Amino acid sequence: MSSTIDHLLDEERQFAPSPEFAAQANGTADLYERAAADREGFWADQARELLHWHKPFTQVLDRSNAPFAKWFDDGELSVAYNCLDRHVEAGNGDRVALLFEGEPGDERRITYAELTREVKKAANALEGLGIGHGDRVAIYMPLIPEAVIAMLACARIGAIHSVVFGGFSADSLRSRVDDAAARVVITADGGYRKGKVSALKPAVDQALADRGNGAQETVEHVLVVKRGGNDVDWDDERDLWWHDTVDNASDEHEAPAFPAENPLYILYTSGTTGKPKGVIHTSGGYLTQAAFTNKYTLDIHPESDVFWCTADIGWVTGHTYVVYGPLALGATQVIYEGTPEFPQPGRWWDIVEKYGVSILYTAPTAIRSFMKQGRQIPQERDLSSLRLLGSVGEPINPEAWVWYRDIIGHGETPIVDTWWQTETGATMVAALPGVTATKPGSAQVPLPGILVDVVDESGQPVANGNGGLLVVTAPWPSMLRGVWGDPERFKETYWAKFAEQGYYFAGDGARKDEDGDIWLLGRVDDVMNVSGHRLSTTEIESSLVAHEATAEAAVVGAKDETTGEAVVAFVILKESYLSAHTPEGLAVQLRSWVSEQIGPIARPRDIYIVSELPKTRSGKIMRRLLRDVADGKEVGDTTTLADTAVMSVISAQVK
Ligand code: WT7
Repeated sequence: MSSTIDHLLDEERQFAPSPEFAAQANGTADLYERAAADREGFWADQARELLHWHKPFTQVLDRSNAPFAKWFDDGELSVAYNCLDRHVEAGNGDRVALLFEGEPGDERRITYAELTREVKKAANALEGLGIGHGDRVAIYMPLIPEAVIAMLACARIGAIHSVVFGGFSADSLRSRVDDAAARVVITADGGYRKGKVSALKPAVDQALADRGNGAQETVEHVLVVKRGGNDVDWDDERDLWWHDTVDNASDEHEAPAFPAENPLYILYTSGTTGKPKGVIHTSGGYLTQAAFTNKYTLDIHPESDVFWCTADIGWVTGHTYVVYGPLALGATQVIYEGTPEFPQPGRWWDIVEKYGVSILYTAPTAIRSFMKQGRQIPQERDLSSLRLLGSVGEPINPEAWVWYRDIIGHGETPIVDTWWQTETGATMVAALPGVTATKPGSAQVPLPGILVDVVDESGQPVANGNGGLLVVTAPWPSMLRGVWGDPERFKETYWAKFAEQGYYFAGDGARKDEDGDIWLLGRVDDVMNVSGHRLSTTEIESSLVAHEATAEAAVVGAKDETTGEAVVAFVILKESYLSAHTPEGLAVQLRSWVSEQIGPIARPRDIYIVSELPKTRSGKIMRRLLRDVADGKEVGDTTTLADTAVMSVISAQVK
């Protein structure tokens, strides 16, 4: 009874929107009616209202090659023009686009006119390196303005960016560079994290040097922003400083238009196998839904709001709600390079106060860690500028939701819990602030124009009050268009499970409450969610068995108070290793091994050395039972195990 989920479903509080908020909100109830009356027409209207089309489209949705879909296919637009030039042409060139705060406290205010100029220079510089339409560019950077400029410069020339989170290892970077056959890597010497310079360029050097994987060398240049000032090795033929190359480039550049379905970016995300998937997003539909959700769900008023989405550009949230959504709307936003607790735990609230942030969009993990530090830290700052709060990345427990509203939102602000995924490109399920009465812990309702349901294994919608699997039942504008280089995997992963109905399978469990509101219950596949970041159990297991000591490994996501889930590994050592070494200190070694191989976010919280793993007769590891052990729970049904005694052995070894 005390499990989080039972508790979550007992939640009955509701918060109706205040009349003041509703009066100024972009969203109104009639959006639902318009969308219900003519869904495709609704999205066509949005695409025309929110974006500038160089060549207007006449077709809306083409699903003749299902499950592949095309939106606005015969239209042409420039994503960069929509995010930059048109705001300058409309007379808003002096509006601040980016309020950048570096971790050491340095500040840059960049207007739309300046940002447009910088992007034009970077576009010219990339073209000068021979990069053009369809080429892939990897971006491995700290969260500094040049990262945003680099992405938009790619968009401007029709190159496809692949941003790799700066916290990922050289190995992870290499596999992504290879998979996309990138021709350029844009990076920085280093960036600031926790008061120190964290180097990036050495990881790029390593990724491009020890290519023992037989992959063809595709990278011709590495473009390096000087940020950390740390010493870096230099390859004169390959490496270029940004300040030499971009700063000296011309600031004249006409943005060409590209077809609506031109690929905009690839973003790798973990799936159920060890190999990350390169999710492909295209231009017109993606930008439409990015702008639409930023306008209606996050209620941006570009003339007056200061928006702050705390995500890194290495994740999809940073793509859609740091770069494309806010800039398409012409909004002013904060970007902050560093960690929340540096130099003291109130840093984020100092930023909110200093810039007068009015809309804050962050993850439950961050909220829970602020809860732990106590309310006095935010309460010492003036947070009265905040008028709307958003949550994304994982289920938010009602306690954290209510704390967020009471302490950060001074007991007044609406909270929108937004459910979506790398694959969906933009928000899909969320309250419409000013319209929906919100319920702590529930993501609630599909957006206008989005069709989502909860179904049973056979694809039948469940009745209210029941649980099942979350599906999207009709194509949406910002949907992924494929998996880079692997169309079969696209079909298999997302569309095979409900092929008959043509539903998109999200991989999440969900429940409809008595009102039909949706409650997300976590992944139903071998994907974990640690601090709102997606990790694959298989990928971490492969990394563990790549260590000389390890014979077998099983990884599970255990419950964690702060990070939602935490990585817990069960490892069997090789006899040959044990005969020559003692296992002393090995767990510590293995933790850093995973961190080096994949990145610090994948580092297991606990590693248990065990002598056996629970397996079914067909040899499949029963992770569910290991999760019970990791959570300190009574171990569930073991009858399908090949050896039913194995769980008591493991439980004893873990204690
Ligand atoms: C997975 C997608 C969405 C951008 C950041 C993560 C979980 C996401 C919520 C939410 C409950 C959520 C799901 C989803 N998730 N938002 N509001 N409530 N769960 O993107 O790395 O592609 O992960 O995050 O499990 O499938 P991602």
